[in-house]
Amino acid sequence: MSTQKKLRSSDWFGKQDKMSFVHRSWFRNQGYPDDYFMNRPVIGICNTWSELTPCNGHLRDIAEVVKRGVLEAGGVPFEFPVTSLGETVMRPTTMLFRNLTSMDVEETIRANPIDGVVLLTGCDKTTPSTIMGACSVDLPTIVIPGGAMLNGHFRGECIGSGTFNWMIKEKQGVENYTMQDILEVETGVARSQGHCMTMGTASTMACMSEALGLTLPGAAAIPAVDARKKLLAQLSGRRIVEMVKEDLKLSRILTRNAFENAIVINSAIGGSSNFIIHLLAIAGRIGVPLSLEDFDVTGSRVPLLVNLKPSGKFLMEDFYYSGGLPVVIREMQPYLNSDVITVNGKSLCDNCTISPCYNTDVIATLQAPLQSEAGMVVLKGNLCEQGAVIKPVAASAHLLKHRGRAVVFECIEDYIARIDDPDLDIDENCVIVLKGAGPVGYPGMPEVGNVDLPMKLLQKGVKDMVRISDGRMSGTAGGTVVLHVSPESAIGGVLALVHDGDMIELDVAARKLHLDITDEELAARKASWQPPAPMATRGYVKFYIDHVQQAHLGADLDILRNGSGAEVIRDLH
Ligand code: FES
Repeated sequence: MSTQKKLRSSDWFGKQDKMSFVHRSWFRNQGYPDDYFMNRPVIGICNTWSELTPCNGHLRDIAEVVKRGVLEAGGVPFEFPVTSLGETVMRPTTMLFRNLTSMDVEETIRANPIDGVVLLTGCDKTTPSTIMGACSVDLPTIVIPGGAMLNGHFRGECIGSGTFNWMIKEKQGVENYTMQDILEVETGVARSQGHCMTMGTASTMACMSEALGLTLPGAAAIPAVDARKKLLAQLSGRRIVEMVKEDLKLSRILTRNAFENAIVINSAIGGSSNFIIHLLAIAGRIGVPLSLEDFDVTGSRVPLLVNLKPSGKFLMEDFYYSGGLPVVIREMQPYLNSDVITVNGKSLCDNCTISPCYNTDVIATLQAPLQSEAGMVVLKGNLCEQGAVIKPVAASAHLLKHRGRAVVFECIEDYIARIDDPDLDIDENCVIVLKGAGPVGYPGMPEVGNVDLPMKLLQKGVKDMVRISDGRMSGTAGGTVVLHVSPESAIGGVLALVHDGDMIELDVAARKLHLDITDEELAARKASWQPPAPMATRGYVKFYIDHVQQAHLGADLDILRNGSGAEVIRDLH
């Protein structure tokens, strides 16, 4: 086989010296023939499979299919494991390990004889972490989203994984669900392999990957167990070999225009607020300037087309049968940059010119959108000098302009201890303020921003209240929730200075979040503020706390921004 460019892997396998003998010889214990090492593109299949990450539990099967495609195209596949991030079980939060996994991915790719990479992703953080790591090396790379589970079903109703979690307190406390009911829901909501089937963070990340041009067209919405997922995997295996020959690296695809497209598409699908933090981090790795404000400027006046839970009605399986993301891309063409290329070498828009919609209840048209303006709004004000975000489409319209009395919780443990205290002085007009949930304060910045309402208010029928925190919110959740307040309370952001009884003003249309106290009072509180004790004094968590950046920068580690390319730092061979 001839390739246009000398392969990176030939530095390991292509010489006639002692070290190339060593490199080839040990691989031979797997029974590979001579020609495996004769200038064939070596494809690393980066697998986030783990039995501890149920959402990615099928990815070993998918990896085998990718290998078929790689071999058919003349490449040589080598599968490798990386740290897998299982959203439902990892403590304190998978987000603490997103950057760690990205380092694992980056260093594994760079240190090995790899010419191109296939990223097998699924559960929330497994997508951004692997893309971030791959960006810092910048080889030809293709993403295969693992796909969502089949629609959840329970007693004749369609229910969404993740989204149902946020109703359990209400179901038990108000509708008297028994343990048997809960056990039944568990099995009904997780009917097949795959990730959450709402437009939560995992589905959002799959759509982000496709919108950035990192997948073959139509990849994001294919359910995990649909045979077409395997077809996609095989074709992706073939395509990555071609991408190596074309030297179609990540940096040629991930341009500023591609990021803008991803922001537009995220608004049109009603994607997760976590999209912001992950896209900022990915942009930081590939070296594309992107700011928090870009999400508002580019994405906040975009119509909403996709009617999926948590803010809508349907689920990912319905989205796929309706035509999936290519329909959204075709509809949104007037908003998109057309001069971007995707992994198949064609532009995002050209890939989707013929993409019929099969159900306009699920994917609306641009002429008749579900809402004329969707997307994330970036708030500014004395309470969030570097910004905060809110997803209006998931909020209650009557709370988008609100002034209320703060009920403050110093940390999530404080909230848990007091929220259901019958004597807590709180009503539906109050603003729940949660501190200590930012990247440093609760290392990893957990998804606690959408804290449950007090039971006594739920029982009164209250469905939503304004909640403000420096934490994140699960993409499967909703409510009038202000998130990612930056700077966070643990490093002395103004959030740390809010007291019970302070008045807070939220005005989403005006992009305003304001703590209504005098400048003198604010200065006095600042002067007497004491930082909390660090959450860790050793190990990775200490390293993370020392280096993590604030939410408005994507919460990546400062030493990981940009990349080091594919060159090995020292090479004795
Ligand atoms: Fe893995 Fe929701 S828990 S995607």
